[in-house]
Amino acid sequence: MQTEQLKRQAAEQAVEFIQSGMVVGLGHGSTAIFAVRRLAQLLAEGRLTGIIGVPCSRQIEAEAHALGIPLSTLDDQAVVDITIDGADEVDLKLDVIKGGGGALLREKMVAQASRREIIVVDEDKLSGTLGTHWAVPIEVVEFGWRSHVRFLQSLGGEAVLRLAGDGTPFHTDQGNLILDTRFGPIEDCGALARSLESRAGIVEHGLFLGLVTDVIVAGADGLRHFSRLG
Ligand code: A5P
Repeated sequence: MQTEQLKRQAAEQAVEFIQSGMVVGLGHGSTAIFAVRRLAQLLAEGRLTGIIGVPCSRQIEAEAHALGIPLSTLDDQAVVDITIDGADEVDLKLDVIKGGGGALLREKMVAQASRREIIVVDEDKLSGTLGTHWAVPIEVVEFGWRSHVRFLQSLGGEAVLRLAGDGTPFHTDQGNLILDTRFGPIEDCGALARSLESRAGIVEHGLFLGLVTDVIVAGADGLRHFSRLG
């Protein structure tokens, strides 16, 4: 089956957990967008009502608005009932690397506010050890950004400045830069996260540890649902 179909299956399965009246985090990326479209369809058909969406990026905000989903922000919603988002690499502990689309800061803020964080992926994203397949996106302020390249090297990472399609530096919704940093298989994600969080100028990193409650994986053999919830 095509990857796009798998992404769609996983995303639409996650939408089944949304109930009328919920505040829903709207993730960023080519998988999460299928959930946004499905949610809009259910609202248009009247099968869901009273939904408020909290978008994780300006792009998703624009798309959800165009689809007619009522929107709000974390300023006004203390708690998000369910967030549906994609990921770049997922391990069996339900820890993930995110930020391939550059929205990691807002995604993590929305995830931290969420009762339930459902990650939707195709099976190619599964990994025995995070870092094996994907670089960790690290959002940094522009001031002194090259100093982080050396810092990340001291942690065993090879950092590359992310570029936009036109070859200029990619800027996040906050106007920051991203250093995509290859560590290889990461033995201790918690220790790496703490090192990154202790460094001034690093705004956020793409290691989402202990934040994900559910992962829905679509593969050739069907859907699998892993959950920390009972
Ligand atoms: C956005 O910043 C990311 O965290 C995405 O959720 C992640 O990169 C997965 O994207 P795709 O669903 O497009 O693979």
